[in-house]
Amino acid sequence: MKNKYLYIQTFGCQMNVHDSEQMAALLAGSGYKTTDNLKMADLILLNTCSIREKAAQKAYSELGRMVLLKNQNPELIIGVGGCLAQHLGSRFHKRIGHLDFVFGTHNIHRLPEMVAAVSREREKITRTDFYKTVHSIGIYAPPATGTASAFVTIMQGCNNYCAYCVVPYLRGSEMSRPPGEIIEEIKKLADQGIKEVTLLGQNVNSYGKNLEQYLNFPALIRKIGKIPGIKRIRFTTSHPRDLSPELINCFSAEEKLCRHIHLPVQSGSNRILNLMNRGYSVEEYLQKIDLLRQACPRISITSDIIVGFPGETQNDYQETIDMMEKIRFDSTFSFKYSDRRGTAAEKLEGKIMESEKQRRLKLLQDLQDEHTLAKNTELEGSRQELLIEGKSKNSENDLMGRTSSWKIVNFKGDQALIGQLKQVTITKAYLHSLRGKLLEEVGNVD
Ligand code: SAH
Ligand code: SF4
Ligand code: F3S
Repeated sequence: MKNKYLYIQTFGCQMNVHDSEQMAALLAGSGYKTTDNLKMADLILLNTCSIREKAAQKAYSELGRMVLLKNQNPELIIGVGGCLAQHLGSRFHKRIGHLDFVFGTHNIHRLPEMVAAVSREREKITRTDFYKTVHSIGIYAPPATGTASAFVTIMQGCNNYCAYCVVPYLRGSEMSRPPGEIIEEIKKLADQGIKEVTLLGQNVNSYGKNLEQYLNFPALIRKIGKIPGIKRIRFTTSHPRDLSPELINCFSAEEKLCRHIHLPVQSGSNRILNLMNRGYSVEEYLQKIDLLRQACPRISITSDIIVGFPGETQNDYQETIDMMEKIRFDSTFSFKYSDRRGTAAEKLEGKIMESEKQRRLKLLQDLQDEHTLAKNTELEGSRQELLIEGKSKNSENDLMGRTSSWKIVNFKGDQALIGQLKQVTITKAYLHSLRGKLLEEVGNVD
């Protein structure tokens, strides 16, 4: 039988990246091999994001390009999934002709059935129902050879309804996955050589709420910490409101928990945080940062910030800048506020002009660059343990690894080291990466 090839392109967050891995695993069961070569594809999937208008625009333009391939290959099947697909449903077919199927965030498990139906009947399909649980949540995605890091979903959905955010509408209600299933999956990954797991959820701190036998997030981390073979544990994303002293304590007590937390603050103005429905004040956030740094002095802290939320005054913006000066994040993802249909913020007065949002974003990013470079420079001369992920993007001859604090280090080394934990000395700091030198002897890391 002729080989069938699947090409997947993914937009959006790590959750979407993992969903794509699960899609590939599922379709392998229908005989599809994944390819990086678009021209070879018999089936193209676009896994979309809808968090900001820009993310949606990117998906439309990619799809526009891809449907043209049908001119050369009329048998080609094109499906679109993810959050934008969930949002648009059948309207996607109207917007982009030549699409074969549209499937939402709860319908990944139905992929083989949809692909089979399209091959048979060439009908247009849309599946965007929500279910109580996401059936695909436990699909095991076997790690690629040489990979030492894997994602594991621990919860689905979100109940927070931050005023600007579409996620609760597109991913459904929050639901935790039973710990037994999570542990089993991680044991299986460890048996395949996985050394690092990243636990995924929109708000991992509230893990456990709906479980029959209550187990909170720190207790889950402690259980995972006992799995042989697993050397590093990461998680994303945690909501500042629910960051408990018990979880903060894990950063000193749990050896395998990496020294990094992504803790999206969004704004440094209490008035804006309130309008955003975030449920914490700047003072509470600062206090949590202090506690984190007391528990783990070298922890790296990263964050998300939105500029130009409706009604954000120059004064509110200045408060965000002042907060950044106080905290000095290791890095931040910063965004211009983008109106999303159906959210509470969409209805607010005082929308900020695009040019002003751009001005605020640029200044903020310049300040962050200063902080990032200063933080990276502090690491020069230190000894760091790296999990070696693969070849460096900068040079064919270099390898790339990540520190426990999530920083990228490029260094010279043999490709046989990929997937291993090794120590380096940091020789030079840059804005987006560090340069390191491999150490032969084993000593204590800084
Ligand atoms: N669940 C995660 C965030 C997921 S979205 C959390 O709560 O931290 C990632 C980031 O996108 C958010 O932290 C926010 O900074 C940004 N974002 C979300 N909606 C946005 C919008 N409408 N406009 C601009 N940025 C937005
Ligand atoms: Fe969106 Fe807020 Fe939920 Fe994060 S916590 S996904 S920002 S609603
Ligand atoms: Fe985007 Fe959906 Fe993730 S909107 S950020 S892909 S949860």
